[in-house]
Amino acid sequence: MDVLEAMETCTAMRYFTDKPVARTDLEKLIYAATRASNPGNSQGWEFLVIDDQQLKEQIGEVVLEGMAPAFANKPEGMDGVGERMYLGAEHLANNFGSVPAWILGASRKIYPPHAPEDVFMHSTIYPAGQNLIVAARSMNIGTCFTTFHRSAEPIIRKLCNIPDDVHLCLFVAVGYPERRFMPVRRKPVEDVLHWNTF
Ligand SMILES: Cc1cc2nc3c(=O)[nH]c(=O)nc-3n(C[C@H](O)[C@H](O)[C@H](O)COP(=O)(O)O)c2cc1C
Repeated sequence: MDVLEAMETCTAMRYFTDKPVARTDLEKLIYAATRASNPGNSQGWEFLVIDDQQLKEQIGEVVLEGMAPAFANKPEGMDGVGERMYLGAEHLANNFGSVPAWILGASRKIYPPHAPEDVFMHSTIYPAGQNLIVAARSMNIGTCFTTFHRSAEPIIRKLCNIPDDVHLCLFVAVGYPERRFMPVRRKPVEDVLHWNTF
């Protein structure tokens, strides 16, 4: 698949079949992630792939508990797209353990070496995450970026034995899609492109 086509149709997938994703394919996704640009080629990223059923269920339980207030207090006046996103997110959290694999994208604060900054820690992992989801799309594997880890981080750190200097940044659901990939809906280029001056 052409890379632009993969980007154009890489919608967040929150509904998955129960077909497992082979570890060789999960490794390919991490390979793609780790080809990304990153500050000074410091490569402070770390990826924790969670495909163990018992662990997924344990994490799913605490995530659901942590996310409950957000799902109970949905913002008023959402449009259809927002409503579907919320419903999808709730479905994903409710079915955490049935998602074939979860990838925790993490980063170490190591750049620049003489005075490491948070901004470089975050900017290390996000391009990698984007590489990962686009590569997945090209393999007909669905993904959804989430920040679900934030709802139960101390417990997840304990369950997965995550070192203190590894900062959790994103939690990506990975599986074969139960729904169709759709074209992403984004602002037209002319709304955001400026030549030389604003
Ligand atoms: C940093 C980041 C965090 C996100 N967190 C969540 C999340 O917690 N739950 C969720 O269902 N989707 C999450 N998303 C997915 C976005 O909601 C989704 O990409 C956006 O609504 C546009 O939809 P589309 O990608 O399907 O076009 C996140 C995306 C990013 C980049």
